Amino acid sequence: MKPLIRSLTLLVVFGLLAACNERGDTEESSNPVTVETPNSFLRFLNNQRDIVLSDDWTDAYYYVVDPYLERQTLAGWKAVNGYDNCDDELHIIFRDAKDLGYGRDMYMCKHEPSSQFPAGRFAVFVRNFIVKVESGDPSNYGPINVEAAVEANLTYHVGTNAIEFSPLDPTDASPSAEKVAKFYTFTPAGNLNRSLDLDGRGKKPVPQPCLLCHGSTLLPWDTEAVMASATPWEFPDVQQTLRSAKYNQLELESFDYSTQHPSWSRGNQEERLRRFNNNIVDTYMEMAARDKTNPEHWCADFAIELSMGRYDADGEVDAPANSCDSYASVLYSGLYQEDYVPRGWRQTAERPEGVETLFKRVVEPHCISCHSLRGTAAGKRVTDTTPQRRGNAVNFASYEDFIGYADIIEEYVFRRGVMPLSLRNYLDFWDDPADKPALLASFLPGFDTYTASGAVIEPGRPRAKIGEDRIAVSPLTLDATPSKFASSYQWQLIEGPLGANAVFSSSRDARTLFSTDMDGDYTVRMTIVNMLGVDRQDIVVTIDSSMSPTQNELNFYDDIRPILQQPDPSQTNKREACTNCHNSVIAPTSALYRGIPVYYDDAVDDPFDPTDRSLYRDVLTRVDLVEPENSILLRKPTRDQHGGGVVLDLDVPGHAATRATILNWIRGGALCFVGDRTLRPDEGEINEICPIP
Ligand code: HEC
Ligand code: HEC
Ligand code: HEC
Repeated sequence: MKPLIRSLTLLVVFGLLAACNERGDTEESSNPVTVETPNSFLRFLNNQRDIVLSDDWTDAYYYVVDPYLERQTLAGWKAVNGYDNCDDELHIIFRDAKDLGYGRDMYMCKHEPSSQFPAGRFAVFVRNFIVKVESGDPSNYGPINVEAAVEANLTYHVGTNAIEFSPLDPTDASPSAEKVAKFYTFTPAGNLNRSLDLDGRGKKPVPQPCLLCHGSTLLPWDTEAVMASATPWEFPDVQQTLRSAKYNQLELESFDYSTQHPSWSRGNQEERLRRFNNNIVDTYMEMAARDKTNPEHWCADFAIELSMGRYDADGEVDAPANSCDSYASVLYSGLYQEDYVPRGWRQTAERPEGVETLFKRVVEPHCISCHSLRGTAAGKRVTDTTPQRRGNAVNFASYEDFIGYADIIEEYVFRRGVMPLSLRNYLDFWDDPADKPALLASFLPGFDTYTASGAVIEPGRPRAKIGEDRIAVSPLTLDATPSKFASSYQWQLIEGPLGANAVFSSSRDARTLFSTDMDGDYTVRMTIVNMLGVDRQDIVVTIDSSMSPTQNELNFYDDIRPILQQPDPSQTNKREACTNCHNSVIAPTSALYRGIPVYYDDAVDDPFDPTDRSLYRDVLTRVDLVEPENSILLRKPTRDQHGGGVVLDLDVPGHAATRATILNWIRGGALCFVGDRTLRPDEGEINEICPIP
């Protein structure tokens, strides 16, 4: 066994033990000690999105994509997608060695527009094969899986995944109906499946894991309202989820092909693999040509450039640059170009030596398939004119886009181990820390996570996180749950005003209530431990009893909505209103901001119409209650990686104070009205409506 796998296994075992102890000790601990669980892959980072990890959400999703119950079986799904009379069909078999390790037996069926399918139809299903050596063993995901797929050995058939590109509104029979990618998964017996174990780390409700690798943004739908509606596809949140999901390109160099059955070699399948990728790029072009005022409009530039470049024999791609607009479809010919490097990653005098190697060794194999499908269209356009605004950087289209995230990459890849976000990919990346991890680290300014002997340290060591210094009134909740790889917690007071009576409600739980009887500065320390080491973080909590409003009095309508909707005129360096751009009236008509992913004005907020957007809910989705500092609501406007650039400039005191208000509101539970309810949104009932008084 490789050392890494061993250490992960130990952690997992340790985690389970800790969980058992806890259950044994206290019947219902309100402060669960969270240790890294086997489920940290294939899930969104912001725990708000965990709302979608529920059977209700799965049911609502399947209701939207199969409202007339025609696809409850694979046979039914194939029938509605016309598999018996495809205009173009193909069959390919390979092993996805990178992401899931499965042998994949894949069938495509395409229909040109016809009376049966007025807008045309494109559908793909794939039977997955795993030869299980032993439950939970990494070698379950080895090369033998492709042979099982070729032999169609049903003993090893673990399930079937399917995507159809069909009208968003299934009742729309017009040739111009807008098509979206809809996801389904079936049991080996062919029945629609509601949850799936994709990587040996436990079952997860679908389609969250599917959508996460296929470029989608999940929103916590109002599942009851969706289920009660005859036209659920009219809900804006439903549309945003469906419209942002995409097909994946086949990266031929990352696959294994059969060695035992020559007719399924790569060479024998090359023409079909090319035709497949040609069809995938056509779906991107079709999505790009959609209504550009939709808040989920995607800039397909980079995904299209990648696809076209990989089939461009002379190496001179004429993929459109920075248009986010419409594209002329192309008929691919020739072989897949494994050594293709997209424009944004080519060596130039301005880029550090070795960027192409970074792309080929790290970014393409470990990040691009997920990231090239992410992002928006609005930010990209802004980037063209103002290079310091990198709104769409999350697609990693260029070295500059990528490296702008250096601090977050260091945190996500090297400290938390959450990226790459799938287990096989992660294990492959960390196979030899001196190889890819060291290469990536060498591009990160100030990277310092090395062992004494100079090797890059793998994630798994404890990482204490309790947020930033803060000003508050007593008592206040301190929270160490964002810490990583913790098996025990300890709170300590290191320093405080002389004579103060300061106490923690519990010194060993992740969450604690700190109270004191005296104003002043308190240095608080969190120490976390696991079998690999110890980590500490100190923060200064300034208790100021004259503070108003206090962290627990902040509410959405009095304190947050005005920040979003009004400029702050009191500053010399004044802050502009978020609604200058995030505006449902202005943005759709603006060349720069059409398609902006979220609006903050009231025009879209009719709390009594469930098909309307809710301002409060839209903001809540962008808030991370577990790790407030990591909320995208705060991260975006304070960084270059925002289509609006730096709107809250932390070097300007007034702006910093505004950010602190938002941060304190999130720490206080992101309440709608104070007193309106006692629960935090992550603890149960959410009043997502939060009507304007
Ligand atoms: C870890 C990332 C990941 C997850 C999770 C995932 N997919 Fe995919 N999927 C891919 C990639 C990458 C491809 C391209 C082919 C390949 O590499 O195997 C793909 C290909 C497919 C295809 C073939 C059409 C295409 O897009 O190329 C279907 C159908 C599909 N996935 C459905 C699903 C469904 C349904 C789920 C959830 C049950 C799912 N996928 C989960 C990454 C993922
Ligand atoms: C299996 C899919 C997948 C892979 C592989 C992957 N990512 Fe991600 N990444 C995501 C998703 C999904 C998000 C958004 C998470 C969220 O919103 O909760 C994300 C977010 C991020 C972010 C934060 C961007 C922001 O929103 O501010 C960074 C940085 C990042 N990834 C870096 C990387 C790097 C570096 C790699 C390769 C070493 C990588 N990722 C590989 C899926 C992936
Ligand atoms: C000058 C125009 C402009 C201003 C002002 C502006 N933004 Fe943005 N914002 C954008 C654009 C364009 C995007 C889309 C590209 C991107 O994701 O960065 C965006 C994206 C975002 C996102 C990501 C949304 C999502 O769903 O992924 C958040 C969050 C955000 N902005 C918050 C804010 C906040 C909060 C303010 C005010 C403090 C603000 N913005 C002010 C232009 C602006």
